[in-house]
Amino acid sequence: MTDPWEEHADWWQREFTNGADPEYTEQILPLIQQHLPRSGRMLDMGCGEGQVARLAAEKGLQVVGLDPAFTQVALAASRAGGPEYFQGSATDVGLATACVDAAVACLVFEHIALIDPALAELERVMRPGGTFLLLLNHPLLQTPGSGWIDDQVLDPPEQYWRVGPYLSEANTMEEVEQGVFIRFYHRPLSRYINAATEAGFRLERMEEPAPAAGFMARADEYAAASSIPRLMFLKFLKL
Ligand SMILES: C[S@@+](CC[C@H](N)C(=O)[O-])C[C@H]1O[C@@H](n2cnc3c(N)ncnc32)[C@H](O)[C@@H]1O
Repeated sequence: MTDPWEEHADWWQREFTNGADPEYTEQILPLIQQHLPRSGRMLDMGCGEGQVARLAAEKGLQVVGLDPAFTQVALAASRAGGPEYFQGSATDVGLATACVDAAVACLVFEHIALIDPALAELERVMRPGGTFLLLLNHPLLQTPGSGWIDDQVLDPPEQYWRVGPYLSEANTMEEVEQGVFIRFYHRPLSRYINAATEAGFRLERMEEPAPAAGFMARADEYAAASSIPRLMFLKFLKL
């Protein structure tokens, strides 16, 4: 079966990179920039077309980007900017033990089937004291089945944010655009935190920013959900 990320890399590249997505330009990239160390070697796990890797390289880090999708790694290499890229998976990074000072996984772990071996592999390649930034679609408020409900049947009508089943882990193929199906794994937040701490990381900081202004401006109804975060940012220290 073809990897959906291989098949649909062009969708991701068109919609979310090169300044196309305000959530990246206004929120995700600035948060990463703020929390990365100033120097050292960094692994961008699930690097896609390299937007996080290029940012880190610009900041002065020596960056290795890794992604299983050839179509992503090939575009990343052509967009250049300093990082080196390899095709590979989170569970087999192919780097030496304790060779990186920082790692970022940005909107990647929700596409990984086995998070424990992926975290163990990250822990292996990082030096003690290193920084690991984990960015996720908010695992509580963006579960499958979540969304804005405008219920006109109720009297008076009610508008509210519905949260889909939270505690059950789920593996769903979601149609993110017509004809574009991507696999998502939903897990409760505790699953991520406990897996990371058991792998040898300590949680240092958590951010749940309000949706980016440029995202809210895209549709009038988004304003009603302005207090529902879309992103979760976790900063870990490798012990
Ligand atoms: C939503 S994109 C994010 C890309 C990039 N991190 C960014 O923020 O621009 C998710 C990426 O995760 C990659 N991915 C999926 N499964 C993976 C795995 N097992 N190990 C590493 N990366 C994976 C996909 O190929 C895809 O490029």
